[in-house]
Amino acid sequence: MEKTTAEKIDEFQLRKQRLMAMGGEEMIKKQHAQKKLTARERLALFFDEGSFQEIQLFVKHRSALFGLDEKEIPADGVITGFGRVNGRTVFAAAQDFTSAGGTLGEMHARKFWKVMDMALEAKKPFVSLNDSGGARIQEGIPSLNGYSGILYRNTMASGYIPQIAAVMGPTAGGAVYSPALMDWVFMVKDESFMYLTGPEVVKAVLGEVVSHEDLGGTMAHAAKSGVCHFVAEDERSCIDGVKKLLSYLPDSCHSPLPVMPCQDSADRLCPELDTIIPDKTSRGYDMKRIIASVADDGEFFEPHEYWGKNMVVAFIRIMGRPVGVVANNPYFGAGVLNVTASDKAARFIRFCDSFNIPILTFTDVPGYIPGTEQEWAGIIRHGAKLLHAYSEATVPKINVVTRKAYGGGYIGMCSQALGGDYVMAWPTAEIAVIGAEGACNIIYRRDIAAAADPAAKRKELCAAYEEKFNSPYMAAELGIIDEIVLPSETRRRVVALLDALKDKTEKRLPKKHSNIPL
Ligand code: HXC
Repeated sequence: MEKTTAEKIDEFQLRKQRLMAMGGEEMIKKQHAQKKLTARERLALFFDEGSFQEIQLFVKHRSALFGLDEKEIPADGVITGFGRVNGRTVFAAAQDFTSAGGTLGEMHARKFWKVMDMALEAKKPFVSLNDSGGARIQEGIPSLNGYSGILYRNTMASGYIPQIAAVMGPTAGGAVYSPALMDWVFMVKDESFMYLTGPEVVKAVLGEVVSHEDLGGTMAHAAKSGVCHFVAEDERSCIDGVKKLLSYLPDSCHSPLPVMPCQDSADRLCPELDTIIPDKTSRGYDMKRIIASVADDGEFFEPHEYWGKNMVVAFIRIMGRPVGVVANNPYFGAGVLNVTASDKAARFIRFCDSFNIPILTFTDVPGYIPGTEQEWAGIIRHGAKLLHAYSEATVPKINVVTRKAYGGGYIGMCSQALGGDYVMAWPTAEIAVIGAEGACNIIYRRDIAAAADPAAKRKELCAAYEEKFNSPYMAAELGIIDEIVLPSETRRRVVALLDALKDKTEKRLPKKHSNIPL
């Protein structure tokens, strides 16, 4: 008998309810027992109330292999759609661990493809909330094909729309590569882990015994591998973090930057900066204090806080407009440039440049670190990434040399001839090829050796060298730095420069793309 309209509507409601219930009460309880939220709870926290529009709820797997024909996987283990985040449209996919472990089969992947294609066409950010056992083993090759299509889309979207992954549970196997291809990765302490193969396989193949946490936990990736950019204490703060990050980013590379109302003053002096540099130049200080002084209301948002601490990257606002900061931090390892610092800064610079976010650099660097460990780790090719990233970037690039700018470090940290639009130095700046001691040992080796008192001679020669180079004046006379400014006037200067350069355009040669050093 033909169904009535009311019956058809009821049937639809029933079917929908069943799919909306995810993996069912038992599985949801299990998820909650692990202090994890469900995919729907996460989406409800992420999007402005009532704004989420789900797409492809009814998509179903079509595999009959290994008992899958008997298995119902609501929404095929992933909830996709779009909604508003603080009033702005964002597209998202949230894997539902309660449904077959959030595993990725053919149709699960196709839902990702659909929502990512929509985000790309709509020119809006894409956010993925990952919680999955990886490729759905029963389905086999279609799962791998599904990943390929996601990774392809991640790559196509790179530099076009912002892509953010929040890993809120396991992300195993090839599943790790989608977050790795996205711009930003958030992880939750004691809950998230990412690895190519888990501890059991590592033990079987390598005989190495390691816990999930040590192998691929949040802090392993935040402090050791650098895969994780943001660490969250719990899921709520993770979602808040993603929203905060979005507040600094445009919808796409063709969209205007989001400008926030600004209470801070364009003329504000920062008197605390006049005393921040220690008298003794070998002493460290925390560059983050300088960044906070210059930023609107002292606020900055820092990716990679635990990785490569000798280099700081951060988002700030200047008169309400987003700015990316790249800064050596002499508080850690004298602020040297090593492999990690170079990679960290280069990636951040390329991100900012992709999305038209101006770059403000603070330089205090004794140079690239020498020695076998760094040479064999490839400091030459990694260090080259920093040079490449600054040279390639066409956004406004402003540099403030607070103290040391030595040798390759001077060149690498947004020097003028590398494309820096405006390089300022504080009166405390020291700009030279190498430090006085090293310089005198090389150029005056014979004079020192021949002197009646070599130590006194070295001291005398070093003093003369320091007099010449341990200041910004020679560089200013040569026009290699554009201005010497009082530290307390830095914010004023930065505000004026960013305003003056906001419509800057820079031509590039007609070519397909450059080839980044590896
Ligand atoms: C099929 C899977 C699965 C998978 C989990 N499940 N992972 N089903 N394929 N890859 C299922 C479980 O059988 C279980 O189903 C449900 O999901 C929940 O998983 P549990 O094991 O009960 O959960 P938990 O104890 O929390 O452990 C989570 C886990 C573990 C650590 C992620 O499930 C695990 O190690 N899974 C395998 C991870 C892995 O090796 N993935 C790589 C796949 S290969 P039931 O029905 O019992 O509830 C890959 C290559 C892709 O990803 C390459 C692409 C480029």
